[in-house]
Amino acid sequence: MTRHFLRDDDITAAEQAEILDLAIELKKDRWAQKPLAGPQTVAVIFDKSSTRTRVSFAVGIADLGGTPLIITTASSQLGGKETPADTARVLERQVAAIVWRTYAQAGLEQMAKDTRVPVVNALSDDFHPCQLLADLLTIREHKGDLKGLTLTFFGDGRSNMAHSYVLACATAGMHVRVAAPEDYSPRDDVIADADRIAAQTGGSVEIHTDPLEAAAGADIIVTDTWVSMGKEEEKIARLRDLGAYKVTEETMSLARPDAIFIHCLPADRGYEVDANVIDGPQSVVWDEAENRLHAQKALLVWLLQRA
Ligand code: CP
Ligand code: NVA
Repeated sequence: MTRHFLRDDDITAAEQAEILDLAIELKKDRWAQKPLAGPQTVAVIFDKSSTRTRVSFAVGIADLGGTPLIITTASSQLGGKETPADTARVLERQVAAIVWRTYAQAGLEQMAKDTRVPVVNALSDDFHPCQLLADLLTIREHKGDLKGLTLTFFGDGRSNMAHSYVLACATAGMHVRVAAPEDYSPRDDVIADADRIAAQTGGSVEIHTDPLEAAAGADIIVTDTWVSMGKEEEKIARLRDLGAYKVTEETMSLARPDAIFIHCLPADRGYEVDANVIDGPQSVVWDEAENRLHAQKALLVWLLQRA
């Protein structure tokens, strides 16, 4: 049966570890695997803007011997003109995989339903699972074994990034904390899913409203924009509501002395993070951005050949 990657918990803990192992191998030997030799084409579709995701999928697909076909929704028949299901029926006859950055998670589910080629979520309103593979790879490189590490996310706890941290870190057996105001708390169903996973892996999930308490003793400090794509109309309210959750030097001083700072980027310096943190010695955001390439290549190899 074709496997898809629409949410972080579409893979088991063992599968997540296998993909990260493969990413480490591919980072050492970038052209070692050619599952797309032919070249076969992978469709990479964007309903929203992107720099990192667009570049890393395009470069990664080429590294794997294939051809990336970048489609901007506005110039295609998607986006209300044709359903995701009909689009998938057209694409699956010609491409090896479909990668899609979109708004509603439901659209991705329709795209994947009964589709014979893997469908990959390249960010939706609810999850950003490819980013999490890159983030876990980065954490592994800097901290070693993921199991038992504590990661604290600050800011919009109901965002795609927060939801993905909760699920992916629970899968990795990590202790994940979300520091957010009550109205920006992660969705209950996502917390319930993560709790179920954490009970198996030895991880845990905690939701905090006090940012200082949430930072204490953390191994990894992370934040993301306060205004995700699609939320621009709420900008004023969000800057007001999330101000107390900014990552500052004080936040870093409460974490472990060897803590690292990560951010999926793009970043708004002075809002969710101070410049002296993201540009400071504990920040590993450029490794993290590079790791999108290696992690997504590993994901594609795994989906196409090993799943
Ligand atoms: N982190 C991330 O997905 O960046 P882009 O929006 O530039 O793709
Ligand atoms: N939460 C952000 C992530 C961008 C990569 C957004 O959805 O805009």
